[in-house]
Amino acid sequence: MIRIAIVLGSTRPGRLGKAVADWVSSRASERGDATFGVLDVADFRLPLLDEPLPPSFGRYSRPYTKAWSEAVDGFDGYIFVTGEYNHSIPGALKNALDYLYKEWNNKAAGFVSYGSSGGIRAVEHLRGVAAELQMADVRAQVALPLATEFENYRTFIPTAAAESSLRTLFDQVIAWAGAMKVLRPDHVHGKEDASAA
Ligand SMILES: Cc1cc2nc3c(=O)[nH]c(=O)nc-3n(C[C@H](O)[C@H](O)[C@H](O)COP(=O)(O)O)c2cc1C
Repeated sequence: MIRIAIVLGSTRPGRLGKAVADWVSSRASERGDATFGVLDVADFRLPLLDEPLPPSFGRYSRPYTKAWSEAVDGFDGYIFVTGEYNHSIPGALKNALDYLYKEWNNKAAGFVSYGSSGGIRAVEHLRGVAAELQMADVRAQVALPLATEFENYRTFIPTAAAESSLRTLFDQVIAWAGAMKVLRPDHVHGKEDASAA
């Protein structure tokens, strides 16, 4: 079964991202073609990147890096839930992405964003970051404008259009997450097959 993580990227008290991630998680639980988990960046308490070696070495010294690495590594693809901060993604999400490297490689990525303009500018930045981390980003995107999807700019009430966009996003991320598996060393060398035998 394909494993997809819903990554909640904002960490501030009162964040709207929690309600959005809860919605994604609730709709995910209705699907039978993948399993899902939520990775809330706030839970990992990552300080600004303080590992001495570049993440591509994969030699981590801090307990929180090891915990974050183990959590991220367990998935085949990611759905990033992000608000828009100054036309980009929250610093906490960028920092969390920077902490790791191989864990993200050759996996699928999709985006659910929100903000005045639906968070689309944040996702344009995030697509560039995902490319450098060797993630395959799907075309479908859920963009939630604060004016139409959040009552009084606070209470999240997704429209039918948002529900439909989310279904398409799931379809694309799950399909590409499956397709990317053959590129990963544990698959190529048969480790997954051996452990299943
Ligand atoms: C530091 C900061 C910068 C923001 N910059 C933008 C922006 O450039 N464009 C936008 O549409 N909304 C912007 N907003 C509004 C956020 O998109 C909105 O507050 C959203 O709820 C933030 O996500 P969060 O609630 O999960 O933290 C900004 C909010 C913050 C806190």
